[in-house]
Amino acid sequence: MTTGPLVVLIGPMGSGKSTVGALLAERLGAPYRDTDADIVAAQGREIADIFVDEGEPHFRELEREAVRAAVAEHSGVLALGGGAVLDASTRALLSGLPVVYLSMDVEEAVKRVGLNTARPLLAVNPRRQWRELMEARRHLYTEVARVVVETDGRTPEEVAQAVLDALELKSA
Ligand code: S3P
Repeated sequence: MTTGPLVVLIGPMGSGKSTVGALLAERLGAPYRDTDADIVAAQGREIADIFVDEGEPHFRELEREAVRAAVAEHSGVLALGGGAVLDASTRALLSGLPVVYLSMDVEEAVKRVGLNTARPLLAVNPRRQWRELMEARRHLYTEVARVVVETDGRTPEEVAQAVLDALELKSA
């Protein structure tokens, strides 16, 4: 029997889910898993290619199944893709779990991911696209999160510590 993930990180792309997730895993002495990486491994293709070739709805289906499997199998630190919360079934899978929303403001976002063309959703006009994206998603992040941890102006180590404090988890 598995106990479920110790921490599930959600939040927009660039909020530090992977970096903070890896640090948390180290601090907790627990494995790290990332549903984006699971999808890439299972499909043998990059996420940007899946978006272009089959469209976002198909990607969200793959993502829902990746979240379902990870939540059932993984008892360490789990990071989800930034748009996972858009899918109502995916949100339902997160109910009752220690979900942490890593939040960040628009200027920080543009600084961190604005020029990263591997992120298909922000490739054209990063600032405007970011605002629209967050208007559509902010309430969903908040709805599924047990706690919100702000990342602006904080190092990944500081964010990881804030997550441990917020969930009252102890380092290994
Ligand atoms: C997406 C975020 C990405 C990835 C895909 C879509 C989004 O994950 O799942 O490009 O819709 O915000 P990261 O948040 O890990 O970059």
